[in-house]
Amino acid sequence: MTQTRYSTVAILLHWTIAALLVWTVLLAWQAEDLKGAAKIAVLQLHKPIGITIMLLTLLRIVWRFVKPAPPMGDHLKPWEKTLAKSVYGLFYIFMIAVPLTGWAMVSASALIQQYPIDMFGLFDWPAITPLYELPAELRHTRNEQLEDVHKLLAKVIIYGLVPLHILGALKHQFLDKDNELAKMIPFLAKKDPAA
Ligand code: HEM
Repeated sequence: MTQTRYSTVAILLHWTIAALLVWTVLLAWQAEDLKGAAKIAVLQLHKPIGITIMLLTLLRIVWRFVKPAPPMGDHLKPWEKTLAKSVYGLFYIFMIAVPLTGWAMVSASALIQQYPIDMFGLFDWPAITPLYELPAELRHTRNEQLEDVHKLLAKVIIYGLVPLHILGALKHQFLDKDNELAKMIPFLAKKDPAA
């Protein structure tokens, strides 16, 4: 039988990662307007959420091999399939690259010992040793460079991939009126009149 929706694990991972992404971006934006201890407190929460997103994305990729995604509808034009697949692929890359650059930036920070990546009070996520052990001057330079890269890559997700992904989903739901969105939100599934 043709698979008509994503597996329950894939659906749970998708919506958990989406919710964590919104949360951590809102925290990053909030931190922009703050200073001193208040800024640090908000960023201390931004970091473990970002690391969790990275781990869940890795799990999501592994899971995609275990349980492949349902096939895309035959009514979709080749360019639509290519665009959707490219956006998914880029999402996976950026959802790992953005936390990775955040982790690297913090590892090169002079403040890492004072403010480690505290995984919700459970344990401290380790720093990346080669960055942590750089001479002070170089560490500072790397920290600043990685901060620029982190912010730039995050912008690609926030202003590029997320809007494209949501617009695609809305197009399927309201213009094409097909069942594509129901693969990720099963309660939207329309009953097949022939069934
Ligand atoms: C998917 C995961 C992540 C997203 C989407 C994300 C997004 C962002 C964004 C949008 C900003 C910048 C806000 C601005 O323009 O000022 C930011 C800043 C920051 N991020 Fe992340 N981040 C993620 C993961 C991480 C991780 C894993 C860490 C560290 C472990 C981290 C550490 C930081 C820090 C320290 C800043 C503040 C830099 C500063 O202004 O001093 N981020 N992040």
